[in-house]
Amino acid sequence: MNRTVLVTGGAGFIGSNLVDVLLERGYQVSILDDLSTGSTRNISHNLGNPRLSFIEKDINDISPVDLQGVDAVFHLAARVNVVDSIADPMEDARVNYNGTLNVLERCREAGIKKVLFTSSAAVYGDVEEVPTTEDASKEPLSPYGNHKYASGNLLRLYNQIHGMKNVIFRLFNVYGPRQDPSNPYSGVISKFMEWASKDQELTIFGDGGQTRDFVYVKDVAASLIMAYEKDIEGTFNVGTGSETSLDHLANTVIDVTGSKSSIVHREKRAGEIYRSCCLNKKLKSSLGWAPDTSIKEGLSKYHLTLTFNYTRVSKLGYRDTLDK
Ligand code: NAD
Ligand code: UD1
Repeated sequence: MNRTVLVTGGAGFIGSNLVDVLLERGYQVSILDDLSTGSTRNISHNLGNPRLSFIEKDINDISPVDLQGVDAVFHLAARVNVVDSIADPMEDARVNYNGTLNVLERCREAGIKKVLFTSSAAVYGDVEEVPTTEDASKEPLSPYGNHKYASGNLLRLYNQIHGMKNVIFRLFNVYGPRQDPSNPYSGVISKFMEWASKDQELTIFGDGGQTRDFVYVKDVAASLIMAYEKDIEGTFNVGTGSETSLDHLANTVIDVTGSKSSIVHREKRAGEIYRSCCLNKKLKSSLGWAPDTSIKEGLSKYHLTLTFNYTRVSKLGYRDTLDK
């Protein structure tokens, strides 16, 4: 693919996996990241690639030079910690709302017609409709969810007003290689994998019957790239459409890692939703995309990357849905 794309947040968990696949497909890639939660460790295996460049910068400071020759922007940079967004909503707005507005304005000035934005299931809040369609009610429970929703609306407006062809992806619970388990609110799978590797207890908050729609990061990367290559626009849920309970997840992690960990249940987390799962028909029918990594398969691949050098096995993690 002889095109140049900018990936904001490309040194983070999802962004660095996206960059791997873009490079595999022949793209010229520029990463713009302030390294606030991302790390050059996530992209170090690609830094010698002549088709990759790296700009260390805040999305609020993007300049015309950064966008020279760029055909499209994958906008993933964000503050992703929900608890931090409640503690400091102004900073959340600066990055997650104003930052997105700045990306859009700079793109408009540069004549770039396509921004692909990673929004979140957090826009829905504690929705009654499960599995959840894109049209379900939106009552976000945090500034993070609210700013993701408001930013998605900006992209939609830029389509209407400026003739852009932007895409808004509402990602459900993404997991896989390079997810950082280090803070108390890191994604549950990264924590379970870390504890299982040390034969430590896996702690489930609540009765273990709560569900999530866990989607493997390489399937997410494939959906983003397909959306660009097929030039679709609009808002799409990105998830598997299957619910996995926390009890099932914990047992599967122990199974695939061969761990001696036991499972303990502790008090449920305050204010959290019980069921979460999306209806992904819209994206499937628009793209022919198949999020076909089962939870067991995804956990096995993730485990492999923790056990061996990631770059040697990165291709294993990528299902070739793009070429279907
Ligand atoms: P991450 O923290 O690993 O990645 C975010 C990246 O953005 C990091 O590399 C960070 O350094 C960078 N960044 C943060 N603020 C920045 C700024 N002001 N300027 C430039 N770069 C900045 O998180 P992730 O899980 O990879 O999330 C990627 C995107 O996907 C985010 O937009 C997030 O909201 C969205 N998302 C993730 C999930 C999930 O399950 N992980 C679910 C829904 C949505
Ligand atoms: C996720 C997102 C959040 C978003 C929300 C919207 C992540 C990290 N968080 O929250 O940004 O607002 O979706 O739908 O992706 N759990 C345990 N033990 C643990 C950790 C978690 O049992 O050690 C449980 C939680 O109580 C929860 C489930 O695992 O029931 C998933 O938790 P988590 O990975 O933190 O994500 P969400 O709460 O779904």
